[in-house]
Amino acid sequence: MKTLGIYYSKTGVTRDVMNQIQNAITMDVYDIKSQPTSTLNDYQRIIVGTPVYIGMFPSKIKKYLKQNADKLINKELYLYTVGGEEPTDYQALFELSKVDLTLYHHIKKIVYCGGEFRFEKLSFFPRVLLKMVSKHKQKHSASETLPSLNQEAIESLIKVLS
Ligand SMILES: Cc1cc2nc3c(=O)[nH]c(=O)nc-3n(C[C@H](O)[C@H](O)[C@H](O)COP(=O)(O)O)c2cc1C
Repeated sequence: MKTLGIYYSKTGVTRDVMNQIQNAITMDVYDIKSQPTSTLNDYQRIIVGTPVYIGMFPSKIKKYLKQNADKLINKELYLYTVGGEEPTDYQALFELSKVDLTLYHHIKKIVYCGGEFRFEKLSFFPRVLLKMVSKHKQKHSASETLPSLNQEAIESLIKVLS
């Protein structure tokens, strides 16, 4: 089964996860930020990788999912997300992002892979915003640690795909 990984990544975390998957299985990878075109026609299995920003998918992912929904619905579809915390409700994430719920229901497996706060890769305003959120969270949670990638979750996804 020919596989394509499609991802968007602002600070490289989603990309790192995609690289790990690509090291484990035979697949092509498409960065929707840097490459203007890619055809879905050649692939039977699609893995979409995305971070969550302000409770939503980034606009490039939203746009891609909307524009290609008719094709994606005919593929074996997987989704992984990265972020500071696990989304409590993936359906709500699709609804908020205004992506067709038919697509959400069509996904075979969704995996939250943890995340990282790479402050140094952010420009001024997002960095300040993230620092504020991060400080607030640490104050109100039992653990003092920043989020990290969840290797177990990544491995579980690779296992399903292998
Ligand atoms: C401005 C801003 C808003 C964010 N909002 C969320 C959020 O709503 N939920 C979440 O889980 N993580 C949030 N994050 C954390 C990112 O999703 C996390 O750092 C992720 O690992 C980044 O992945 P990337 O490097 O592939 O873009 C936010 C980060 C920034 C800078």
